[in-house]
Amino acid sequence: MSTPIKSGAFSVYLAAGLATAVAADSAVLRDIENGRRVFATCAACHDPGLPTKTGPDLRGVVGRKSGTVPGFRYSRAMKNARIVWDEATLDAYLAEPQEMMPGNAMPFPGLPLPADRRDLIAYLKTYTP
Ligand code: HEC
Repeated sequence: MSTPIKSGAFSVYLAAGLATAVAADSAVLRDIENGRRVFATCAACHDPGLPTKTGPDLRGVVGRKSGTVPGFRYSRAMKNARIVWDEATLDAYLAEPQEMMPGNAMPFPGLPLPADRRDLIAYLKTYTP
């Protein structure tokens, strides 16, 4: 009777240790996965495969200067903004595009949830050509 209980407790102990070891990594993966889901709303305009090219190609956008995708016709506001898209600028823009950059031409109201923006930006870091 005592052996099964001991071995059961041992496996629980082992499982807890393993779970702790992978918890950090899987949290990051979960965020990126959620970010990929949120990106579906962006892809309606930003999918580089779209024939209409409604929005500029976002592959490699993190670390890029704003308004610099060759051949895309940006608004004057976006062309003149001269900012670098990093975590802070993307977060502010994606929260309220018109508030952050008045006059830009992205017809998107913004993402109200900070967690969605955080996960989306984590995903965008992995979204490269
Ligand atoms: C309805 C179409 C549409 C949707 C949906 C949309 N965008 Fe855009 N986006 C645009 C357009 C058009 C521009 C160019 C704006 C300008 O020139 O002022 C743009 C510009 C941008 C830029 C600046 C890119 C650069 O090259 O400087 C970023 C970043 C961006 N969008 C991110 C997103 C993200 C992330 C989402 C999803 C949460 C999203 N957009 C949803 C149409 C859209």
